[in-house]
Amino acid sequence: MRISYTDLENKVRSMIKEKRFQHSLGVVAVSRMLAQRFGLSSDDAAYIGIYHDAYRYCCDDSTPEFCRKNGIEVFPEEEKDPMLLHGALSAIHFPSDAEGDVPEFFRVAVRHHTLGHKDMGKYGAILYIADYIEPGRKHLDDDDRQRILSGERLEDMIISIMDMQGEYFIREGIKSAEVSDELYDYIKSGGLL
Ligand SMILES: [Fe+2]
Ligand SMILES: [Fe+2]
Repeated sequence: MRISYTDLENKVRSMIKEKRFQHSLGVVAVSRMLAQRFGLSSDDAAYIGIYHDAYRYCCDDSTPEFCRKNGIEVFPEEEKDPMLLHGALSAIHFPSDAEGDVPEFFRVAVRHHTLGHKDMGKYGAILYIADYIEPGRKHLDDDDRQRILSGERLEDMIISIMDMQGEYFIREGIKSAEVSDELYDYIKSGGLL
């Protein structure tokens, strides 16, 4: 057993800033929509979505070591910028915050929501997409949202997002993470999540 969605939502509200909480509600709404569209559990997608950023403000220089001690592989980009590990912290704390067992795919989804990962699973894909396109995000407009959502599969939507992100990275001189490039190549070569 674990606490209800409503209890988890109340808990998360006390853990993060209001703006981040509103973002999380947006992620829940988009996650539910995507789960319904692809025949997955919208309740599971919502539970994952409300929790994904619960540790957004908890990363510091000790986080990489803490994650390793808890059996999580830390990628080089996360080593350099520990904030990227907030999803890993959520994965570690999920059972204790939910006060009971959570399926492994819940933890995998929150773990990989920032950089993406070829093993993130369908719920990880839903979270990744919802995190990027939820209505509160100002870095894209409704045309961009529609273009992403017009993808036939979750995998197609991820490619659209990563292409948009890639353009932004080039403009800003940012190098994408190796684990993100692996996800991109995996999907492009026909891999399924
Ligand atoms: Fe996040
Ligand atoms: Fe987020």
